[in-house]
Amino acid sequence: MSASRRAFITGISGQDGSYLAEFLLSKGYEVHGMLRRTSNLSRTRIDGLFEQGAASDGCLQLHYGDMTDSMSLVRLIRDIQPHEVYNLAAQSHVRISFEQPNYTAEVCALGVLGMLDAIREFQHQSGQEVRFYQASSSEMFGKVTESPQRETTPFAPRSPYGVAKLYGHWITVNYRESYGLHASSGILFNHESPRRGENFVTRKVTQAAARIKLGLEKTITLGNLDARRDWGFAGDFVKAMWCMLQQDTPDDYVIATGSSHSVRELCQFAFEHVGLDYRDYVEHDVRFERPAEVDHLLGDATKAQENLGWNPSVHFQDLIVMMVESDLKRAAERREN
Ligand code: NAP
Ligand code: GDD
Repeated sequence: MSASRRAFITGISGQDGSYLAEFLLSKGYEVHGMLRRTSNLSRTRIDGLFEQGAASDGCLQLHYGDMTDSMSLVRLIRDIQPHEVYNLAAQSHVRISFEQPNYTAEVCALGVLGMLDAIREFQHQSGQEVRFYQASSSEMFGKVTESPQRETTPFAPRSPYGVAKLYGHWITVNYRESYGLHASSGILFNHESPRRGENFVTRKVTQAAARIKLGLEKTITLGNLDARRDWGFAGDFVKAMWCMLQQDTPDDYVIATGSSHSVRELCQFAFEHVGLDYRDYVEHDVRFERPAEVDHLLGDATKAQENLGWNPSVHFQDLIVMMVESDLKRAAERREN
């Protein structure tokens, strides 16, 4: 890998962005990340990379921009001249998308269009190929018509987020077919880690199990316990993104583990790991339910296994143990400070 290979990651401060940045730096890339302006510098997930000196030797550079500001995307593509763009930025919370449908569409749908146009214009002007990865989602399958879901399964989104992601997905296909862009979408099923946002269900549960165990909280309030998801490890999933952009031909791939569990099973595993029975601590509140629910997601990643050589390495139980252990450590540290 040449040291001059440049990657541009939108959403670098998010869960996946942080794992992908680490992975690309380990492969010798010069990594550029887009941050949006916030009143607090939201860099906690990538602080470690700065501590390791990635920024001081120029391997990691951050830039301000926003998916809702298409001129910022044009400017960044022109200035960075990336070889690979990973579009991970999103309003990624499904329930919140019902409260902010318009904003969700601007970021997850029109934002993708803005980025594709910026790339198309830069390629046209410079003659340099830019490979593009779009973070599509299993949420697009929604009210599923077959199980497990694969690349050919019809889409039936059930949330403003799912609908917006479907636009982002189809416009990526459209720019590939219309303008010959090397543009691929990963249709990623749920993937988690100790860096998962605290209001997604896995992290909410592992954090609560840890804090209840340490006597810092008494209960946890959840919505639908019967929903089932195909949960994998984010560190595995970002490798699939990279693999897609190393192919001669762009394409779309389902990335999933192939096994699913309910939210109830998640609670059971997480609380059992700290020696507790979840039934003594879990309360219900309709506030955490969605106007329309996706009941069961289960992916078939055969195409990615065959074409990309990709396989998940972390199983559900190990993932939950990893997250509970990390939350126990964090909670204990906070208690001491
Ligand atoms: P995440 O932790 O919520 O990170 C989202 C990132 O997008 C953050 O860096 C966030 O910045 C940034 N962002 C939000 N709005 C923005 C805007 N208007 N302009 C620029 N940046 C903005 O999400 P994730 O779990 O890493 O997921 C990465 C991508 O994969 C997302 O597109 C998500 O929809 C998609 N996806 C995720 C999963 C999953 O299970 N994790 C599955 C399928 C698809 P701040 O740090 O400032 O908030
Ligand atoms: N967040 C949350 N909070 N979810 C809850 C709760 C709760 O208190 N109680 C039950 N759930 C259920 C939700 O109703 C849903 O069925 C399931 O837990 C998973 O919810 P999330 O962890 O919020 O994830 P998601 O599946 O809605 O969306 C995630 O995965 C998508 C891929 O399928 C996000 O990462 C999306 O960005 C991603 O595209």
